[in-house]
Amino acid sequence: MTPLIQIENQGGVRILRLNRAEKRNALTHEMYEGLCQALDEAAADASVRALVFAGSETAFTAGNDIADFLSNPPQDDDAPVLRLLARLPRFHKPMIAAVCGPAVGIGTTLLLHCDLVVAADDARFALPFVNLGLCAEGGSSYLLARRIGDARAAEWLMLGDLMSAADAHSAGLVNRILTAADVLPQALRWAQQLSAKPPAALRATRALLRRTSRAEAEAAIKAEADVFRELLQSDEAKEAFAAFLEKRPADFGRFT
Ligand code: COA
Repeated sequence: MTPLIQIENQGGVRILRLNRAEKRNALTHEMYEGLCQALDEAAADASVRALVFAGSETAFTAGNDIADFLSNPPQDDDAPVLRLLARLPRFHKPMIAAVCGPAVGIGTTLLLHCDLVVAADDARFALPFVNLGLCAEGGSSYLLARRIGDARAAEWLMLGDLMSAADAHSAGLVNRILTAADVLPQALRWAQQLSAKPPAALRATRALLRRTSRAEAEAAIKAEADVFRELLQSDEAKEAFAAFLEKRPADFGRFT
């Protein structure tokens, strides 16, 4: 397992912690690979009753590592990022996210698959896919509107601005806002609480909550991946990525 994903157990709770602070926990294909493996192990291990996703106290994740994405673009469904996204709606145990600092791209779409989300008052959320010449991923073209309504979903996915913790809380993406130091402890308290519940009843309730959305989420993930792969080859995306790497504003004026 890559050291960029740290795995820890606390009773029946498994904590998956992103560990690449110097790059704001931006996710590389190696990290997606590690997360896939960690999810499979957690799913298969009966002693794991709940999962907590965490970053550091200053960053949840800056989303896809843009440089790594350019060197290792997802070519087919076997790409680590697409394998991870396919696993999220199928994972059958409670998932809780502890979010401090930025939660960009998949850092926000991952939350749509979590059962509970606690965020720091300094947390920031963004879905800058369009700004990068790309499209929604992780089922967000369906799950975001379901969660926060059509108007806000259009705002988040089309404008791609950074949203505050207060915005995310009032939109219904986040259950609770606390100070950064209290975020992980709260996520662990919830996870311990869930771990002590009768597991069959909890599993059944969770499955019922997702009864109508799971198939839709899986269909959205597939449809998004097809468009995403195509857009990744586009000149618009090339300009957006070059601008990011060169630390300059992108110029889409020449595109029609
Ligand atoms: N891919 C690759 N590198 C990234 C990255 C990403 N998604 N996000 C941040 N980094 C790198 C920066 O290039 C910088 O590297 P450097 O120190 O070698 O110059 C380092 O991480 C720190 O980033 P910085 O922008 O200085 O941190 P910040 O705290 O000021 O801002 C963010 C944090 C997340 C708001 C900002 O980094 C950002 O907007 N990143 C891009 C997010 C994005 O578009 N993700 C893709 C989603 S699909």
